[in-house]
Amino acid sequence: MTTNRTFTMIKPDAVGNGYIGGILKMMNEAGFRIVAMKYTKLSSEMAGKFYEVHKDRPFYGELVEFMSSGPIVAAILEKTNAVADFRTLIGATDPTKADAGTIRKTYAKSISANAVHGSDSDENAQIEGDFFFSKLERF
Ligand code: CMP
Repeated sequence: MTTNRTFTMIKPDAVGNGYIGGILKMMNEAGFRIVAMKYTKLSSEMAGKFYEVHKDRPFYGELVEFMSSGPIVAAILEKTNAVADFRTLIGATDPTKADAGTIRKTYAKSISANAVHGSDSDENAQIEGDFFFSKLERF
């Protein structure tokens, strides 16, 4: 079953480079409504827990270090077919392989500093949104 919500983070590279406004504009113009949003910084423990699914991958340590290196913007977004449409909007994980006009093609530098995260399934969108937001923080 598909739902109409996904979860995203604007990663430390994009925040540090001043791309929050540009990325949010692309999300809004693509028809995503903001349900919840938070400007925060992950501890290495929190980043490790968030990306626990990747703990056996060779890039896990680098990923956790990078994701806890500076502030991020976390958000829940709403749109029909949100998970799939958002993954189309952000483009391939590796920005050199991302299509023109995608967020990663526009703002990302490398596979680890790739500007944004987007949930890969409805189940993970729910888990990841619950990681950051209580029911009272969703509108
Ligand atoms: P994200 O969508 O946040 O989910 C997992 C992240 O791991 C991914 O984006 C990348 O930023 C990061 N990553 C780092 N190295 C690799 C790699 N070699 N292959 C895939 N993902 C990687």
